[in-house]
Amino acid sequence: MEQSIHTLPRVLIDEASIAARLDALAVEITDFYRGKPLTVVAILSGSLLFAADLLRRIPLPLQLECLNVSSYNGLESSGVVHFLDDRLPSLEGRCVLLLDDILDTGLTLDEVRLKLVSEAGLVSMHAAVLLQKRKARAREVCADWVGFEIGDKFVVGYGLDYEGEYRNLPYVGVLEASQVRSRNSGKS
Ligand code: XMP
Repeated sequence: MEQSIHTLPRVLIDEASIAARLDALAVEITDFYRGKPLTVVAILSGSLLFAADLLRRIPLPLQLECLNVSSYNGLESSGVVHFLDDRLPSLEGRCVLLLDDILDTGLTLDEVRLKLVSEAGLVSMHAAVLLQKRKARAREVCADWVGFEIGDKFVVGYGLDYEGEYRNLPYVGVLEASQVRSRNSGKS
């Protein structure tokens, strides 16, 4: 069923703020990688919109790879990161920039980093995330570039989903408890 205007999540970070922050991040990232053999690895599906909008602001020659992983069940991390692709990208001789939508428990970024670093011949690895939750993490991992720091709330939109939906919202929003309850009760 189509999402009506009344069911849309509350805006936490609006479109204009995202665009302005991406402009600034892109300048920093461009300066950092100028003259280096850059491969961007976008962690899907969550970083799809972030990657598309950020990369169009980076006027460098670069290669783009995508990695499909999944770790979330509804509102919570399952505690296990599943790699859904048959093969890993070839990163020999490359400076790798990981892109993810959100740094929450740190599990996803840490597992992806460990997996890719085990590939021989990678020159460097850094990470950029659109969002970082202000909280203690299960893994000691940090991102080199962070779009926005947010509180420990479940967020959706701009690539982030709840049960597969809301990724197409142009802003980051907060899903209220009532929206989660009503959706769950509608399914049971
Ligand atoms: P971890 O906990 O591994 O989280 O750092 C990384 C992945 O979990 C998903 N995630 C969320 N998805 N709203 C979402 O829609 C959230 O608040 C949220 N927190 C974590 C997301 O896929 C992220 O890449």
